[in-house]
Amino acid sequence: MEFQNEIGLIQRGMAASVAGTSRRLEILSNLDLKAGQQVLDIGCGGGHLLEELAKAVGPNGKAYGLDSSEDQLIQARERCVEYNNVSIIQGFANDIKLKNNSCDSVVSAQTFEYIKDVDESIEEVARILKPSSIFINISILWVYYKFYGAEEDLNNLIQNTFKAHCSHQMLPVTLKGRLKKFGFKHIKHKPLPVFITNKDENSPARYAEEVMAQFAIQQGVSKNKVSEWQSQLKTAEKEGRFAYTNLPILTYGYLS
Ligand SMILES: C[S@@+](CC[C@H](N)C(=O)[O-])C[C@H]1O[C@@H](n2cnc3c(N)ncnc32)[C@H](O)[C@@H]1O
Repeated sequence: MEFQNEIGLIQRGMAASVAGTSRRLEILSNLDLKAGQQVLDIGCGGGHLLEELAKAVGPNGKAYGLDSSEDQLIQARERCVEYNNVSIIQGFANDIKLKNNSCDSVVSAQTFEYIKDVDESIEEVARILKPSSIFINISILWVYYKFYGAEEDLNNLIQNTFKAHCSHQMLPVTLKGRLKKFGFKHIKHKPLPVFITNKDENSPARYAEEVMAQFAIQQGVSKNKVSEWQSQLKTAEKEGRFAYTNLPILTYGYLS
């Protein structure tokens, strides 16, 4: 999936919602960043986490934000304009323009599951990290990214179409083995479950529904079917039988 234009806008809305904020807090509380350190956010999107990283490492530290999408990086630059210790890098996670052993920590949220050859990018993380330093990743178990309340066949059509939006539906399941292969130790997982029963403005469910709807249309599902799905979810919400579930997994490991 390309994070530009409408999809990029919705993604940044999700990042600004309570779902994005709680993920960032989880990452920050596991990082233990110190003033003067260098940290990289892979797939930094609109720069919401990057701004927090910049505050944590202070003026003598460095917060790098890497993303492949120029559209996202325009927003990240704007968000972090006041921080002289932020560097934005446009590029891909398998070829990061940073020196060997140069980062004290690397973080990434909802990005590695979109990368086809994910091992290449993990190897790149291991290359740029200093020995004994931490990599924190959040990836979603997409099988549990679900809506409830619409008629079953229509709901399945939209859900099944959405499978094509990323390369790895269940990356956290294989992440421990992949990290071990590149020298990471003391690997731990923490599930961050989401269960939401409303679609109010700024509800993560609202952004998730909008992304799925846009993607289904891009994939050739008719606009009528997509709007019927959305209208059924709206009715379900009114009648108190709507839910959206999501299961992001935070994984961290230390380079040996
Ligand atoms: C779902 S967004 C997550 C953004 C941000 N981390 C957050 O949690 O709000 C995924 C981001 O990863 C970027 N991305 C996808 N594949 C990438 C790759 N191979 N290298 C670098 N960035 C990538 C996309 O452009 C997008 O901004």
